[in-house]
Order: sequence, then structure tokens, then C-alpha cells
Amino acid sequence: MQLSFAAPSAVNSGTWVVGALEGPTLLPAAAKADKATGGAIGRGLPVNRFTGKPGQVLEVLAPAGLRISRILVVGLGKPENFDANGAEAAAAAAVGRLKGTTEAQIAFEIDTPKGGKVKGAQIAAHLAMGAKLKTYAFNHYRTKDLAEHESKLQKVTVFTADPAAAKKAWEACDAVVEGMFLARDLVNEPPNVLSPVEFGRRAKALAKLGLKVEVLGEAQMKKLGMGALLGVGQGSERESQLVVLQWNGARKKAASPVAFVGKGVCFDSGGLSLKTGQGMMGMKGDMGGAAAVTGAMRALAVRKAKVNAVGVIGLVENMPDGKAQRPDDVVKSMSGQTVEVLNTDAEGRLVLADALWYAQTRFKPRFVIDLATLTGAILVALGGEHAGLFSNDDKLSERLSDAGKAVGEPVWRLPLGKGYDKLLRSKIADMKNIGGPSAGSITAAQFLQRFVQEKTPWAHLDIAGVAWQDNEQKPLIPSWGTGWGVRILDRLVKDHYEG
Ligand code: BES
Ligand code: MN
Ligand code: ZN
Repeated sequence: MQLSFAAPSAVNSGTWVVGALEGPTLLPAAAKADKATGGAIGRGLPVNRFTGKPGQVLEVLAPAGLRISRILVVGLGKPENFDANGAEAAAAAAVGRLKGTTEAQIAFEIDTPKGGKVKGAQIAAHLAMGAKLKTYAFNHYRTKDLAEHESKLQKVTVFTADPAAAKKAWEACDAVVEGMFLARDLVNEPPNVLSPVEFGRRAKALAKLGLKVEVLGEAQMKKLGMGALLGVGQGSERESQLVVLQWNGARKKAASPVAFVGKGVCFDSGGLSLKTGQGMMGMKGDMGGAAAVTGAMRALAVRKAKVNAVGVIGLVENMPDGKAQRPDDVVKSMSGQTVEVLNTDAEGRLVLADALWYAQTRFKPRFVIDLATLTGAILVALGGEHAGLFSNDDKLSERLSDAGKAVGEPVWRLPLGKGYDKLLRSKIADMKNIGGPSAGSITAAQFLQRFVQEKTPWAHLDIAGVAWQDNEQKPLIPSWGTGWGVRILDRLVKDHYEG
């Protein structure tokens, strides 16, 4: 797909997208289009109950005499609310309308509304971002009916008063989009294909973008004492891996890095505490945290972020063979603390325990943020709207909340506390890996905190509710795997940690 920015000019082919504010009020380009169609748009508004609300799309097939195929009028809402997110949603709505058609070209001519808060070049870049995000499809395993699942779009043009500024803004946006696409691909990939070793290979391939990539195998992890992570993988035929990604873009070479840690359970059967058939479906996506970290690191590298960043991802397959870890086993983590494993399905926290410890002790980071599809309980609490946020640091929490809001990946903070921590007391070891029957997401976070050094600002994002979706619920996400996490991490870095 070719994407370009240009000064407004006549559209002579393909689909012409114009905008209307709530009212509806046609913006200048839409008024021009209305004139060109002899008033077809104006007549179409009331009969289609088009009011200009965000998400609305009015389609007018081009009458004879025009060389374009159709006009799409997209609703932009109220001018004071129209921002980068609104631009993305509007462009995605237009591209979504073309799904299943043969259309190869689309041109956006959305005038910047007066009274809006975002500059024209930013609007243009985010129109492009929304359009591209919506074209994503995961069709690697289809051999038939491709036409109905594929976008035929080849050329996207965004008109803007300052094409050079838009292009510059777009480069950073595109880096993020590509990072999200990588994360979506990894989550969508079936588990027979995406083993821990295969995930490691795909991470290795990012070295060509300037990332430093190390992949540790089981022997190395054993030497490091990672008994918690290794215990999870020991019931699988496939070797566990630890991937370390580094991006060194800070002006001060020796600046301590920001650290991201991802749960990479390539398939979670539950282990001997086996899940039900229903509960196991979708557990290929249990590496969504690892995917987000990988995608975010890719984005930082491609847009040459002025930051030192590390990503540490623990990759395992949780399976129940004869060598599998048992409920009642006690394992020793890299931190030296022992864990009584009472439920082998509470495996993510065991993987993270060692990955978190490794990230902190090796890199002494400014902060560490882990992302994990950790608990079903977070789905009960927050559904698919917010990720759960847990943290020992108010400043980091606030920054994450703001970044999430800005990019459409909102988070909701839940509490931590001594009372919850007590629920992890074990009869024979330093802790057990499950709490009581309630507050499941909190006790999981509480478990992780036992592997966070007191001086390290830390945040845990439980993304079990947002890493994948069953129906197309989000306007910008046309696939099962959402790529959640790439954008919020990138934005957090951009707003606070570059220089
Ligand atoms: N990967 C699951 C969490 C999960 C569940 C993610 C549903 C997405 C959808 C995790 O490893 C798990 O199995 N957690 C258990 C913990 C319990 C045994 C304490 C859970 O949530 O039931
Ligand atoms: Mn599990
Ligand atoms: Zn899991």
C-alpha cells in the first residue's frame, strides 16, 4: 500500500472522502463534493439520518460525469472534540466501508475544523494512521475466498495544507503502526507455528533494524537460577527461551534504560491443572504481553527514539506431559525466593518473576513495566475496555494513564496492599502461586511485586481483557489480535523519557 500526503487538488479516480461536523455541517471539501454531485450529498443526509456523529459514513456513488467511483462523507462529531483519535476513527470508518469492494484508491480531504485542538499536519498523519491500521488482515493461512478478507487498497492520499510537516509526523506514526502489526501477527499466529524458539527467531530478525537481540536457552537460564520460569516450560517438548531486546538511542550513551517485561506463554493449556476445552481456546494469545513488548521495541528502533530501552520476554509453553511440574511442587526463582506451585495454570506470574528479576538486576532500569495476559479475573472486572494497572509508583501510574488515554489504550488502576499480599503465604515455602478465591488480579499483581526491588518504580499491566477480541469491537482493530500495548508504551516514552 502506498501512502502519500499532498496539497489539495482535484480527485480524479477512486474514492473521495470528505468530512462533516455534527449538525450536520459539511466542511468546505464536502460542500464542494455536494456541488460536484448536483446536491446528491445534501439530499442524502436526512434520508440516511446522517447527523455527523463520529463513526457515521454516508456513501454517495459518483453520478455520471465524475471520474471518481464514490464519495464518502464521514462524521467528525463536534469540532472541540475532534482530535488525533477522532481523525483515526474517521479514516478507519471510511476504509472499513470499502472492505469487500474492489476499490484500490482513496483520497482524504478532511478540512481541519475551526475550533479544533490539533494542527492540520497532525490530523493528516493520524488520518493516515487510522486508514492503515484498518487495512490490517491476517490471511497467511487462507487458501480460499481471499477476496472477501483482503483490502484491495493500493493508494491512500491525504490532502493537507503542509504535506512536508504531515510526512514528518507520519514517519513516527508509521513506526508505531508497524510495531502494532508485528504484535498483532504474533498474537494471531497459531501455536503449532509460534513456539518459543520460533518467537525467538522472529525477535532475532529485528536486529536488522538496529536492535541488539539476545536469545537465551534453557541451559543458560538454568545457570542463572531461573527455576520459576523453567518449571513452567518443563512439561513441553519445546524449549523455553528468554529474549532480551535492547535499543540504545539516548544521547547519553550510558543513561540507564527503561525496561519492559512481557509474558510470553506461547500456549497455555493450564499444565496439569488443565483448562477446560472452552477455557483453552484462544490461549495461543497468552503471549500478548511479549508481543506488545516486541512491537514497542520495534517501534522505538524504527522511529529512532532518543531513549535507552530494554525488552525482556519470557517464552514458554505450558503443557501437561510426564515431566510437567505438579501442583504442590516447590521451585526456586532467580531472586532466591521459593514458590509453592499449587496451581500450574497460574504460570504467567512464575515466568514474570524470573524475567522481572533478570531485567532489574542486569540493567538497573529507571522503571520496569510488565505486560501480561495474567488473569481471567481482570476480564470480569474491566472487560475489554481497560487494561488493569497495578503499581508501586504514583508518578509512573499517572504517566501511563495519560499515555493510554491519549492513544486509545486506556488503563484503570487497581489497589495493592499488605492484606492482599498475606493471601500468598505458603505452609512450606516463601509464597504460593495463588491467592484466595477472590481478588484474583490483585493477588497476581501482589505476587509479581515480590520480585520487584523496592527502589524500582514498577507497573504491571494485566492485558488479559484487551490483547484479543472475539468480534470486531474496536474501530481501529480489524483482527483477533489487537496489538494492545505497543501504542501506550511508545507514547509513554515519547512524552517523558526521551532526550
Ligand atoms: N493466561 C491465563 C489468564 C487468562 C484467562 C487470559 C482468560 C485470558 C483469558 C492465566 O495463565 C491463568 O490461567 N490464570 C488463572 C489464574 C488462577 C489459576 C489463579 C485464571 O485467571 O483463572
Ligand atoms: Mn494459565
Ligand atoms: Zn497464562
